[in-house]
Amino acid sequence: MMKFRYSELLRCPLEQSAMQVKDGQLRCEKGHCFDIARQGYVNLLGPGDKRSRDPGDSRDMVAARREFLQSGHYEPVAEALAVSVSRLIGRDAVIADAGCGEGYYLEKLQQHLDLDAGAATLIGFDISKWAVQAATRRIQATWLVASNRRIPLAPGSVDCLLCLFGFPVFDAFMTALQPGGTLLLVTAGPRHLIELREILYPTIKHSESAVVQQAVDAGFVQGHSSSLQYTTAPLRQREISDLLTMTPHLFRASHEGKLRAAQLQNFPVTVDVRVQLLHKNPPG
Ligand SMILES: C[S@@+](CC[C@H](N)C(=O)[O-])C[C@H]1O[C@@H](n2cnc3c(N)ncnc32)[C@H](O)[C@@H]1O
Repeated sequence: MMKFRYSELLRCPLEQSAMQVKDGQLRCEKGHCFDIARQGYVNLLGPGDKRSRDPGDSRDMVAARREFLQSGHYEPVAEALAVSVSRLIGRDAVIADAGCGEGYYLEKLQQHLDLDAGAATLIGFDISKWAVQAATRRIQATWLVASNRRIPLAPGSVDCLLCLFGFPVFDAFMTALQPGGTLLLVTAGPRHLIELREILYPTIKHSESAVVQQAVDAGFVQGHSSSLQYTTAPLRQREISDLLTMTPHLFRASHEGKLRAAQLQNFPVTVDVRVQLLHKNPPG
């Protein structure tokens, strides 16, 4: 059982005031209390942060993502991320993963960078309680159920913010980052999982993502961008099923398309991702 890792950067989602641990709870200066779950995380979703009773990825999606990522097929993505982050940060940096899922990338980052547990501050948050519960089993970090729309951290406190395959909210990201801080945005490129998409859909849309422009519109300065493309080892039937369950294709694909995908065996796929750095410039 993991112990909750407190950070003095935590802020009450209701009052934005500082929080302290007392009697198994996280308490803000204005008296709001949040229970520390026995798994070692805190749910800091405020009123209005939830648009459904069980927001974010479901228990099944989280389990599928955990299984699939454990197989190592996305390890090169984690390595590319670690290389990019290591060029950006000092040893005592604050790194936050927004929409951290079940914690795979934060764990890999800790391993790759050999982060001294006492030096860097690692914070992972996701709107899905299932994801955060799974993440607590990976590493000691400050794990939170929280929304990208209202990040419960002190404004200007994060050196490096990660958003992988997530739902960026650039205004909130800008507020959380410190001046000179960097957002690492990892998104799917045009050929990502193309072989699977060709099986799932009658036609493939080649739409250009507008996400970087949205970041620039929110005040970010576009930095270095790199693409990573490779072909995975042949995926087994179970891995294809997990991959489908962890992606939006689960909802978007037709029943027939999913039946075709269910027949696949030993099926390599292209991974095509873009790592985009976006900087928050210091004023002046
Ligand atoms: C495609 S998954 C990616 C998870 C993880 N970054 C990864 O790459 O393994 C997207 C994640 O965003 C979470 N999510 C959705 N809306 C969110 C929000 N408003 N705030 C925080 N997380 C959110 C989902 O629960 C899910 O875990």
